[in-house]
Amino acid sequence: MKTLTVALDERSYPIYIGADLLSQADLLTRHIQSKQVIIVTNETVAPLYLQNVLAHLSAYHVESVILPDGEQFKTFDSVNLIFDKLLASKFSRNSTLIALGGGVIGDMGGFAAACYQRGIAFIQIPTTLLAQVDSSVGGKTGVNHLLGKNMIGAFYQPQAVIIDVDVLDTLDDRQFAAGLAEVIKYGLIRDLEFFVWLEENIDVLLARDKTALTYAIEQSCRMKAEVVAEDEHEGGIRATLNLGHTFGHAIETGMGYGTYLHGEAVAIGTCLAADLSQRKGFLNAADVVRIIHLFERANLPIKSPTELTAERFIDLMAVDKKNVDGAIRVILLEAIGKATLPMLVDNLSLMQTLQHYGR
Ligand code: NAD
Ligand code: GLY
Repeated sequence: MKTLTVALDERSYPIYIGADLLSQADLLTRHIQSKQVIIVTNETVAPLYLQNVLAHLSAYHVESVILPDGEQFKTFDSVNLIFDKLLASKFSRNSTLIALGGGVIGDMGGFAAACYQRGIAFIQIPTTLLAQVDSSVGGKTGVNHLLGKNMIGAFYQPQAVIIDVDVLDTLDDRQFAAGLAEVIKYGLIRDLEFFVWLEENIDVLLARDKTALTYAIEQSCRMKAEVVAEDEHEGGIRATLNLGHTFGHAIETGMGYGTYLHGEAVAIGTCLAADLSQRKGFLNAADVVRIIHLFERANLPIKSPTELTAERFIDLMAVDKKNVDGAIRVILLEAIGKATLPMLVDNLSLMQTLQHYGR
């Protein structure tokens, strides 16, 4: 097992990464300081892994909330079901919430933990590749609004993140590929060497070789932990983790939550960001091709949905957390391995990318 640390002074926490970690009771119970424990999961993950977690908690008063599955259920209504259970069970402020699932469960579980009695402890047990390499680390929690993805939420750090790579065995290929989009992102924004490693190992990763997979998860978590430790509340460098996301969130919202998986929308969004980076004179044409090719090889979509016109796209992009005074700002690439901070872009270049790339 490898242990990384998200260094945030008194709120620092470990990320455990390894095989068969769900069977290790102590990894979990060492982070529980209460008798009352609530597990938040969904109807897909519960039959697969809830029992493995419950098995370690016989000495506690445990309640479980099993939410409907899907991005379209990342809502206040779902979070309210968690509050219903916490209140009906008379859980106190020292309770612990365990989020067992993908990014949707992790984001909602964390948000519920941030809000219940103004904050209870929580632990992330991410079960998708995307959640293991990105969403479970760093404390961004929240829900979607029909008018904007992830627009309602809070920064709230967990006590620990437990990443058991074996749970990925049950993940389907589409979801697995979606997770790779965020892995590729890390190479693009801050590590050329890792990007080259991904080019060399993408087929091995798709075959789910455990050694390669564990390495990719470790590298991703290492980079996420570094960025979060430097800029927890996204005053600067943390925004680079949103490469492709301004476009991607517009696709998710515009097409209806769940139509495109988050990772798929990020893959398309990153190709759009690469095209725009070239138009602005940063990336050369060969690197844009190289980026698009890697997403293609990872079985990810690279073209924006024809249903979204450039005008509609821009309207959707106007609802984003990186915008300032209503002006759209995007992350661009100066080179493979080097992202810019959020940049204002002129409407003409943006229109050209949206009208011409992938059409
Ligand atoms: P998800 O949570 O919807 O999970 C994808 C699917 O896989 C679901 O159907 C789920 O039930 C299923 N599943 C989960 N674990 C499984 C397993 N081990 N075996 C079989 N099936 C399993 O989607 P996701 O891709 O994990 O997360 C996407 C969400 O994460 C989005 O809402 C996105 O906004 C958010 N996100 C948040 C951050 C952050 O920093 N907080 C970062 C990136 C993404
Ligand atoms: N996924 C973006 C972030 O955590 O900042």
